Amino acid sequence: MTGTEKKTALKAPKGVPDYVPPASAGFVAVRDAITTAARRAGYGHIELPIFEDTALFARGVGESTDVVSKEMYSFEDRGGRSVTLRPEGTAGVMRAVIEHGLDRGQLPVKLCYAGPFFRYERPQAGRYRQLQQVGIEAIGVDDPALDAEVIAVADEAFRSLGLTGFRLELTSLGDETCRPQYRERLQAFLAGLDLDEATRERARINPLRVLDDKRPEVRAQLEDAPLMIDHLSDASAEHFATVRAHLDALGVAYTVNPRMVRGLDYYTKTTFEFVHDGLGAQSGIGGGGRYDGLMEQLGGQALSGIGFGIGIDRTVLALQAEGFDPAAQGRVDVYGVALGAAAKAAMVPVLAEFRRNGLRADMAYGDRGMKGAFKAADRSGAAVTVVIGENELETGTAVVKTMSTGEQEPVPLEAILGHVTRAVER
Ligand code: HAM
Repeated sequence: MTGTEKKTALKAPKGVPDYVPPASAGFVAVRDAITTAARRAGYGHIELPIFEDTALFARGVGESTDVVSKEMYSFEDRGGRSVTLRPEGTAGVMRAVIEHGLDRGQLPVKLCYAGPFFRYERPQAGRYRQLQQVGIEAIGVDDPALDAEVIAVADEAFRSLGLTGFRLELTSLGDETCRPQYRERLQAFLAGLDLDEATRERARINPLRVLDDKRPEVRAQLEDAPLMIDHLSDASAEHFATVRAHLDALGVAYTVNPRMVRGLDYYTKTTFEFVHDGLGAQSGIGGGGRYDGLMEQLGGQALSGIGFGIGIDRTVLALQAEGFDPAAQGRVDVYGVALGAAAKAAMVPVLAEFRRNGLRADMAYGDRGMKGAFKAADRSGAAVTVVIGENELETGTAVVKTMSTGEQEPVPLEAILGHVTRAVER
């Protein structure tokens, strides 16, 4: 190949989205709304490794789940260890809590994380191979009020974004006293149905998963299947009733969906999903629940925990489905146009002052003419443009233009901060 030959441009791997401006503003808005809601409830930040020992997910998430059995990005590193790109956050949080002894301090341990997760799924709208989540986990206290708090943090985050078309579905998956009996009851029921071999095998390993079968011929047979919610132990039933009472008091609306099946095996007691109807097949914008046995399963104490994972990608799509354009806000508040080198020298410190005072500010760089500079001002989405030319240099002023009205007025440079701040706020 000669050096002058044009190379083919490379693309991101299938199912791996980029987040570029202006759309990336929506991504940031969603992520920040959720982390803000979590911070207000006392959740501290945890930054997790992107890859972990494969055994963590096999043990933590469950071998019978699709996530572990079909969707993991696992590979051998150069030292011959099997590692996996994290498919979800809860197992990693538990590992870190145990490893750092956080569970020996004040309980509950409340943690929040955000970032990419990896699942080898079939890509489609709202389903990616690299997906972005914000999650929270509250570990070490089994209190229904904490379940309600976790759910309310998600609800509050969605509301703060202006999202309205979402629903909360809730159920209880019971505890170690009622779950094994229910499992047997369900297995006995499933044994009497006309099912194919693969489904029978599923019924044997994890009968709950069969309840999630989408095929009409299977669904029809499942109509009279026993449901966990009707066979809860007294303690689990009371736990669930208390969670619901707290949610009622908080004004968080929900429907009970006793047939909810989550894609991960660790859930016990309260389990929930946030669903948005504007998204088609990939309607789950977030989900979570309590996990009683997980910490012990990973070699820690027998402590319970509860948390959620919210899909940032799908929440952005949900906002779009409701007509929001989180990117419409504009990239900056104020844009500088300086005509000539001397004017530019005057503009640079003005811009720095704007930024120090919390205004988002940018200016036309390079030596483009007035027309190009004003076009760039328009494109930036700034509410105000500040212009310094030869006349202004002589008089120590700048022209402040309000973009929405086209109004212009000369303002002395020493008064420009206050003036522009007021104009941006209008
Ligand atoms: P999950 O339900 O597997 O739960 O994922 C949480 C959310 O991540 C989903 O509701 C969805 O919005 C988003 N999501 C999942 N897979 C994809 C994908 N392929 N493309 C786009 N978005 C996706 C968990 O991961 C649990 N760790 C949540 C949790 C925390 N439970 C207790 N604590």
